[in-house]
Amino acid sequence: MKDYLRVCGKTAIITGSAQGIGRGMAIELATYGIKIAVLDIDDKLGTEVRDIIRKAGGTAEYIHCDIFSVEDIKKAVKKTAEAFGGIDILVNNVGGGEPSCGFETITDERWDKYIRFNLYGAFYMTREVFPYMKARKKGKIVNISSGYAIGGGDFCAHYATAKAGLIGFTTSVAKEAAPYNINVNVIPVPTTDTPAMRLTDTPEMIEAEIRDTPLGRIAVPEDIANTVLFLVSEAADYVTGQIVAPNGGKRMLV
Ligand SMILES: NC(=O)c1ccc[n+]([C@@H]2O[C@H](COP(=O)([O-])OP(=O)(O)OC[C@H]3O[C@@H](n4cnc5c(N)ncnc54)[C@H](O)[C@@H]3O)[C@@H](O)[C@H]2O)c1
Repeated sequence: MKDYLRVCGKTAIITGSAQGIGRGMAIELATYGIKIAVLDIDDKLGTEVRDIIRKAGGTAEYIHCDIFSVEDIKKAVKKTAEAFGGIDILVNNVGGGEPSCGFETITDERWDKYIRFNLYGAFYMTREVFPYMKARKKGKIVNISSGYAIGGGDFCAHYATAKAGLIGFTTSVAKEAAPYNINVNVIPVPTTDTPAMRLTDTPEMIEAEIRDTPLGRIAVPEDIANTVLFLVSEAADYVTGQIVAPNGGKRMLV
């Protein structure tokens, strides 16, 4: 029998996987036999995800890791490699925005905060994981961006700017990584039902999103997890430097 994905036994780091989309990815990918390092700052929810995976027969570790801290990142990557014997997959998922604000009202501090929150952690994390993948001449990296990076943010220019930066980071690293057989892709995530989305999007915004989406609903974390699963699998060995958009048809041809 053929195995389309060939992911069983691989090792993945997923940042921000205690809650929301990251949590959905961690639980979903683990069901395919991927060993998951759940990295987050929410120790209670992070250990809960680890325990859910273990109870279902999967393999997982929870590691406290603040993506603002290079020190935390170095420790977490080393710990994952020691626990699982290597790192095959990295998903840079941590990020987020804030309730709508016109760009003229964004203070220097908030601009800096959201650029850092959505961009710096992915850089720090990728830089740290890269040597492990290079040594094996194999690896998959997926960056979690936003549809706002392409279509323009609805009053959140700092967030949209950082997420667009993540696309440039993806394509640049994809070129440098290709000689080592490492694939790097980016997902411009659409409105997805998570605790963070319920804080930033009003019911009116969600209704408008559903109206504008041909498939007639907003995404759920599993929709994003399924796209990640493809991109980290051997089925995607010839896919790199791409924007892959599971968006219900809201924006066609990306
Ligand atoms: N939900 C959406 O509608 C939507 C839309 C577009 C893009 N995205 C992107 O998807 C990603 C996940 O979004 P979500 O809605 O699941 O968010 P969420 O807030 O529900 O979950 C984010 C997770 O990151 C963790 N986290 C926060 N700060 C951290 C830090 N400094 N270090 C480590 N972990 C930290 C949180 O504890 C939480 O577990 C983000 O990058 C977001 O920008 C989401």
